Amino acid sequence: MSKIIVIIGAPGAGKGTQSRLLSEKYGYPHISTGDILREMARADTPLGRKVKETMAAGLLVSDEILAEVIRTRTSQPDCSNGYILDGFPRTLDQARLLEELASQQGKPIRSARIVVSEEALLKRLSGRRACSKCGEIYNIYFSPPKVEGVCDLDGAPLMQRSDDHPEAVSRRLEEYKRSTAPLIDHYRQSGGLIEVNGELPVEDVFEKLLAAVDGANN
Ligand code: AP5
Repeated sequence: MSKIIVIIGAPGAGKGTQSRLLSEKYGYPHISTGDILREMARADTPLGRKVKETMAAGLLVSDEILAEVIRTRTSQPDCSNGYILDGFPRTLDQARLLEELASQQGKPIRSARIVVSEEALLKRLSGRRACSKCGEIYNIYFSPPKVEGVCDLDGAPLMQRSDDHPEAVSRRLEEYKRSTAPLIDHYRQSGGLIEVNGELPVEDVFEKLLAAVDGANN
């Protein structure tokens, strides 16, 4: 049955890493609002500049912009069988919008939270590198590429994200506690939140997520 899989977690919890694996497994598109916004921020327009500034500061982009982004993206034909949301919703208003969309699209929502301690998050974010071409994610401490600074898959250079410097990282963690943590209660109360220990190796986190998402909806 087609479904909407929502992956919640603090910055660096492994949402992108796990969403990519789930996308391969289910054949659903992986929709990262962070990636869509980073693409928007590359445009030299008033909107692009505003998004770029907000993200670089580690703050949340407005719910109005996100509503437009998510409505447009999830109405594409590749989402008709289901999709994976990485980084959305992040506020209660965004969660309500998603519930409205899910009911219009006739798809159930399966939400999973990846839980990681703040200490581990800080190390993950400072060590993260991503391929400038295909987006494959590495970590210089936990999962380094075979050749330093170069993607194993396509040989392109690896980059560090502009919001992974210490000041923006603390703002992102504060924003998460302030705006996104209330969502956890919201999903818990609706009875559907699966919580997975994100400090296990990537493959083990994936297995647990898979079991939980499948188990919740056969
Ligand atoms: P976004 O791009 O979504 O960033 P984020 O939430 O801060 O999350 P990250 O991408 O940093 O981490 P992740 O959980 O995906 O972890 P990853 O898999 O990379 O958003 C960026 C910005 O966009 C926001 O700050 C905001 O401004 C804006 N934005 C986006 N969505 C928005 C919304 N809905 N509303 C408003 N604004 C929005 O892993 C991290 C590292 O850990 C990697 O190096 C990885 O290799 C490593 N790792 C992963 N899993 C493991 C493991 N099990 N063990 C060891 N290492 C691991």
